[in-house]
Amino acid sequence: MSDRELYRAALDATGKAYAPYSGFRVGAALLTADGAVYTGVNVENSSYGASICAERTAFVKAVSEGCREFVKIAVASSAGSALPCGICRQFMFEFSESLTVITGDDEDHLEAYSLSELLLKGFRLNI
Ligand code: THU
Repeated sequence: MSDRELYRAALDATGKAYAPYSGFRVGAALLTADGAVYTGVNVENSSYGASICAERTAFVKAVSEGCREFVKIAVASSAGSALPCGICRQFMFEFSESLTVITGDDEDHLEAYSLSELLLKGFRLNI
């Protein structure tokens, strides 16, 4: 699947965001190694800290369906490009250091990053 197609899926998903507090609607589309796409949106809460970002929603949906290998994730918002927050970077690092993160103001202006450049030396629990 192309970056543009994945970004479009993320942009479509913004319509399902639950963001009554910030008004910042975010959608994510996650491509797995076997070619499946899981979308996610931000889901906010009256207790603000209980909110979850679109990226983690997509990952939680995929992981809970048994997926463990990921290729790339596209992120779109109601206000253009959106790079994953620090918590999401660490969350994604758990599964793939080399994940590609795509965002942009629209599908003709996409930026792609490796998660390894967005998060240097992520945490791993060595037990
Ligand atoms: N948010 C995401 O869902 N993903 C991002 O990449 C950045 C921020 C959400 C969290 C919150 O619901 C809203 O955007 C404003 O921070």
